[in-house]
Formats: sequence, structure tokens, C-alpha cells
Amino acid sequence: MKFFVDTADIADIRELADTGLLDGVTTNPSLIAKSGRDFMEVTKEICDIVDGPVSAEVVALDHETMMKEAETLRRIADNVCIKVPLTIDGLKTCKKLTSDGTMVNVTLCFSANQALLAAKAGATFVSPFVGRHDDNGFDGMALIRDIRLIYDNYPGFTTEILVASIRNPVHVLESARIGADVATMPPAVIKGLFKHVLTDKGIEGFLKDWEKTGQSIPTA
Ligand code: E4P
Repeated sequence: MKFFVDTADIADIRELADTGLLDGVTTNPSLIAKSGRDFMEVTKEICDIVDGPVSAEVVALDHETMMKEAETLRRIADNVCIKVPLTIDGLKTCKKLTSDGTMVNVTLCFSANQALLAAKAGATFVSPFVGRHDDNGFDGMALIRDIRLIYDNYPGFTTEILVASIRNPVHVLESARIGADVATMPPAVIKGLFKHVLTDKGIEGFLKDWEKTGQSIPTA
């Protein structure tokens, strides 16, 4: 499963990219606003740090303007992935862009039928929002299971399931169990995956015993 980070915070992106485990980045207008940075400038900076897809979202609601915005965004870097909302105009834009070889992430997906439409429109990624689904009394992970089942029924579909709106490590674990292709996570969730109390305790115990040996490992 690929790991994307869901943020426009450069310090967090750099820190996670340094682990070698980061496969891409997703942003949205709210995350850009939170960064306080210029959209074009910060997106370019992110694209320079990460080799994988960097989702940048259009804000127009009509197909013609979406296409114009996408044109501007795709000039930022080769790894920009245009993010469009799951609407008729969004999917029209998706179809046009992907047939020209541009990566597209169809966002704000809340039903398996919507995911079916995104796949038919040739989306590179579809982003079902599990956290917001849960928040509204639905079962976010059941949605991922349904989409996986449907996509697997039609091997011709190439759209990757990008689990979005992830709130905790259980969402990540379940996504991997189901076989989702990508999980985009806030930096804190990714960092949390590394942690286990028994790992910390184990290191502490080993180092205590190592001290007793009086030895050191030559580092030069
Ligand atoms: C996905 O690409 C979105 O940016 C994101 O996951 C939304 O998450 P939220 O529900 O925490 O805002």
C-alpha cells in the first residue's frame, strides 16, 4: 500500500520524505489555507521534495474553468495530479485530462456508485473519505470494501483506491486488510504508525543490559 501525506506543511513533508517511505502528497483548499502559503508556490515546493504524485485541487465548478485551472496546475511540475470533485463537471474534466495522460484524483467520494463513475471516467485515483463518512453515521471502511469488490469485478478498471479523511491507525490497518492501493494520512497518523510502547520498552531494556557489557560498536 502506498503512503501519501495529507498536508501542505513543508516541514512535515520534508521530515516524512526523509524516511524514504513517502509515496506522494495530497492537498486540498482547506490545507492550503491552513499553510498560509501561496497555492502555486507551495505546490511547486512540495513537487520538488516528493517524486510521487502531488494532488492539487481545482476550485472551479464548471468543466471549462476546471480545464483552464488544470492547465495552470499541471504546468507546475510533471508529478502534479489534478484533483477534481466528484460531480458531472468534475468527471467530464477527469475523462478529458486522463485521456491526455494527466493524472487525476477524483475527490469527495462518498458512495460505491460514485467510485464506479470515477473508474469509468478513467480516474488515476478515487478518494473515498472514510473519516467524514464515519462522522455522519456511516461505515467508512464498508465503503472501501464495496469499492474494492466492484473494482476487482472489472479488471479493466485501472483506478487506484486512495483512502482519504483517515483519522487514526485503525483506518490504516483496515485499509491494508481490504487491499486499498493508497492511504493518505495526516502527518500525526503516519508518525503514530511507527510507535509501540513495547518497542520503546524493549529498546530501554536492551540498552540497560548493553551498558553492563562496557562495550561499544565502532562507528568509523
Ligand atoms: C483527501 O485528499 C483530503 O484532503 C482529506 O483526506 C480530507 O480529510 P478531512 O476529512 O480530515 O478534512
